Amino acid sequence: MAIEPLELLKRVFPSLGQLELEHLSGIAKIRTYPPDTVLCHEGAYEQTFYLISEGLVVVTKRFDERGDLILRRAGPGEFFGEMAIIQDAPRSATITTLEETTVLELDKSTLEKALSENASLALQMIRTTFDRVRANDQMTIRELRQAFETLERLDRAKLDFIQVAAHELRTPLTVMRGYASMLLSDPTIKANPMLLEITQGIASGSQRLHEIVNNMLDVQKIDMDTLQAAAIPVSLPVVLRGLANDFKDALVARNLRLDIELDKNGDLIYIEADPGLVTKALYHLLMNAIKYTPDGGSIRVSCAYEENEELGRVAHIQVSDTGIGVAPEHQQLIFEKFYQIGEVALHSSGKTAFKAGGPGLGLAIARGAVNAHGGRIWMESRGYDEQLLPGSTFHVLLPVQARKRPHHEGREMAPMAGIRSTHS
Ligand code: CMP
Repeated sequence: MAIEPLELLKRVFPSLGQLELEHLSGIAKIRTYPPDTVLCHEGAYEQTFYLISEGLVVVTKRFDERGDLILRRAGPGEFFGEMAIIQDAPRSATITTLEETTVLELDKSTLEKALSENASLALQMIRTTFDRVRANDQMTIRELRQAFETLERLDRAKLDFIQVAAHELRTPLTVMRGYASMLLSDPTIKANPMLLEITQGIASGSQRLHEIVNNMLDVQKIDMDTLQAAAIPVSLPVVLRGLANDFKDALVARNLRLDIELDKNGDLIYIEADPGLVTKALYHLLMNAIKYTPDGGSIRVSCAYEENEELGRVAHIQVSDTGIGVAPEHQQLIFEKFYQIGEVALHSSGKTAFKAGGPGLGLAIARGAVNAHGGRIWMESRGYDEQLLPGSTFHVLLPVQARKRPHHEGREMAPMAGIRSTHS
């Protein structure tokens, strides 16, 4: 049953007097629209205000290319289209008739006149509008939360798969590495250059696979927040010199120069940390510097001790390179596991080759290892440029005295584009 115009106006604007209501009723247009008619177009500048006399409409908001969000349905006695008029802004949502719908239509100037002449009416409409804005906010937050939960579930499923795959690969790999090293010490093979080269290939390939599997297990531990950092005296210079030695061949092969600059008293200062985790973090930073610096470039590692407002006395390690740099939009995300810059299809493998891809775990492991010490890790780069080579600097702060890490610090919400993680 259609609501009569006067009755409808009285319901929506109870504070208006009889004369004003009759005046509005006289100038309002009554229109009937078939189902599926769009009365308000989200984003458009439109100036009509509607009161529903009969029928049903749906309020929707564009969500993404996959579809719209239904905010609510509205029926007889309800109004819509006021927000754009009050705010002088585009439509905040789309309104479509779900069945044949009869409406009373008022234009912008009529509504504005009624509002300006009647303060309590204006207040009432503002209240409704605020309620709607709040409802829209809550809806958006609910949707975001659901999206986070879905992402977290997917992330967990991915990690479970990685753990199973890594464990399954580990046993046959151990066998392969064992046999490969036995073959390498066999005198017949040693005496035959071709067989020796093949066997060395098998040995280094299985060693590389072993490292990848270990990275997969490390990243899984980081995500499950089960990385426990020991707190024993660690000499950073010793760790750094050890790493420089590990990368010696790669640095020579790529014609890269590595300078390590230590604090004057560096050799004498120990930090309370987990030597394995600290080595891992710095290993991945150095590995990245090598990978993303073209042949002939240089890498500088410095370590100084300083006071940090939040962490107290810290070792500040910087790994700088003269490489291709990182674009600002990637600088936060590169610490997320599996994050790859560029197309995965163009991914080249190999450990220390220029721009060698890798599975995208190194920086996630470095961040996990630093966080496990209650430290900080971040990077700076003037941007990405393969010609100008702006370079990158990775910073790590490690507390000199081991800190008890609050449990929540290691947890991250599932990454979502545009949402910054809270630390690193
Ligand atoms: P306007 O922005 O002019 O055009 C779209 C209309 O949709 C808007 O005014 C409100 O009338 C209506 N609208 C927006 N959000 C909601 C909501 N959460 N609930 C009900 N109506 C809404």
